[in-house]
Amino acid sequence: MVTIVNPDLDRYIHEHTEPPPALLEELREHTQATHPRAGMQVGRVEGALLRMLIALLQARRVLEIGTFTGYSALSMAEALPPDGELITCERDPDVARVARSFFDRSAHGKKIRIALGDALATIRALPASPEFDLAFIDADKERYPAYYEEVLPRVRRGGLIVADNTLWSGEVLAPETPDGRAIAAFNDLVHRDPRVAHVMLALRDGVTLARKL
Ligand SMILES: C[S@@+](CC[C@H](N)C(=O)[O-])C[C@H]1O[C@@H](n2cnc3c(N)ncnc32)[C@H](O)[C@@H]1O
Repeated sequence: MVTIVNPDLDRYIHEHTEPPPALLEELREHTQATHPRAGMQVGRVEGALLRMLIALLQARRVLEIGTFTGYSALSMAEALPPDGELITCERDPDVARVARSFFDRSAHGKKIRIALGDALATIRALPASPEFDLAFIDADKERYPAYYEEVLPRVRRGGLIVADNTLWSGEVLAPETPDGRAIAAFNDLVHRDPRVAHVMLALRDGVTLARKL
């Protein structure tokens, strides 16, 4: 993941965005100290955006694809009401264990259920209702189009799909890798889709918001 904005401006944005609760900061530090791919965490600014979207939508049910060590899941759970529910999909039991250990230390952790296993299989096994208010896609990039097609019918009208890394370090301009081609195909799919209103944000590595019409 790269940030596409000037590093000084990126720091300024970081410093002028509300800080996360202490436990999230501890999770960020723990992941950075112990995991070589800690850069996958959404971090302070995108975490705050996710919380903001959940509050604006008055969301109660959230689906996440790609838990990793739990930063985005815990960020979103904090904004859910006490009876809110977040299902987060992860195939790697080691990172899921770290995530659960942090969720269990949070007053909001009881809202989170980790679905261990392949995300596509997990989503396909979900019942058609109740629908989700928000779905956050942040796992294997080659499957973004498939995740989108499976998730959209399970999101309520007016609900939101948020997809991370949709600029793929700028590679979408001239995709050369399977991941880059998949993200570019996903972006074209959303852009052509009459079922959603959509906007791409130049935040971090690119974030797409698609609201179901
Ligand atoms: C970019 S990281 C998610 C970062 C997370 N949202 C955060 O803020 O910390 C992507 C995660 O998706 C998981 N993943 C990749 N492919 C998957 C699949 N097919 N099913 C379930 N999880 C998958 C990876 O193991 C990885 O932990």
